Amino acid sequence: MAVTLEEIYKKAVEIGIKYDPRSKDDLRDYMKEKKDAMKKMTKLQQKLHQDRTWNPYDDTRIIYGSLKAKVSCVYLAIDVETQELALIDALNRKRKDQRKKPIDLAIAHHPESYALEGLVGVMEDIQVATMKYAGVPPNLTAGTLRERMGDIQKNIHSDNLHRTRNAAELLDIPMLCAHTIADNVAYTIVTNVLKKLKPRKVKDVVKALEKIPHFAKAMEDYDRPVDVQTGSSSSWAGKVFVEGFTGGTDGSEEILKYLSRNAHVGTVIAMHKTKAHRDEAKKHHLNSIITNHMAADSLGMQPLVDWLRSKKVEVVCGPGYIDAPL
Ligand SMILES: [Fe+2]
Ligand SMILES: [Fe+2]
Repeated sequence: MAVTLEEIYKKAVEIGIKYDPRSKDDLRDYMKEKKDAMKKMTKLQQKLHQDRTWNPYDDTRIIYGSLKAKVSCVYLAIDVETQELALIDALNRKRKDQRKKPIDLAIAHHPESYALEGLVGVMEDIQVATMKYAGVPPNLTAGTLRERMGDIQKNIHSDNLHRTRNAAELLDIPMLCAHTIADNVAYTIVTNVLKKLKPRKVKDVVKALEKIPHFAKAMEDYDRPVDVQTGSSSSWAGKVFVEGFTGGTDGSEEILKYLSRNAHVGTVIAMHKTKAHRDEAKKHHLNSIITNHMAADSLGMQPLVDWLRSKKVEVVCGPGYIDAPL
């Protein structure tokens, strides 16, 4: 059976909205602001950003391929760049010999091309919302993000931005990037696990996280997929908050001061942290639990994988993907 690329793209966005940490009202206001901003754009910019009228996630985009393309076998991985597209091409030659249907779509979690260009677009609104739940006022969150967002945008500006899209075009392999839609899923699933938990020590949180299917499965391949990187497993957990799972990428380490002082958070959970973040966390006696990055991103992609399989689309899991049906 085959579905169209458009159906897959729409389903990905639907999943993102279902798991979005924002309230329906917040999401509606965000979309209104985006539509208003589009009115001030040139015709060329409006064409480039036309998906913003219905898709709240600027880092989730079809980067190459027709909406009407029929898809019956997907290659899905956390990262798809030129080397993975060459891998798909090699796999397709092998699959032809084996009389198997060809891979007709690549789905990446991490954004490339147009989706990477939109990364900054998903940062502020979502991070303001999640931090607000923890108890950090929006102005503080937005204030700490301003410089960081500017730096990311400038780095992207000088990048070879459309390299992967150009490679996909040369090999004629349609490609979709599904970033924040999946990070919303991972954020919500981990947050819901914590809601039922009354942890005394950090080790109680670690134990609960290790039961989540993707982190449990990661234990087969990784030493300590749930790692305590500041504080220790015997530290007092205090209030636990999922900090770095969704909202594009890490915010500024400055936010940790406000999480500690304003929101009285004792333990943060993230899927990656820089040395600057760890140093800042230590200053405020914050415990940091870092989950395996690949496992956390795979957890986020799983509802889309499960849906594809329910539609009888074959899913070939690429390197890095940890496949554990929910
Ligand atoms: Fe992610
Ligand atoms: Fe990631």
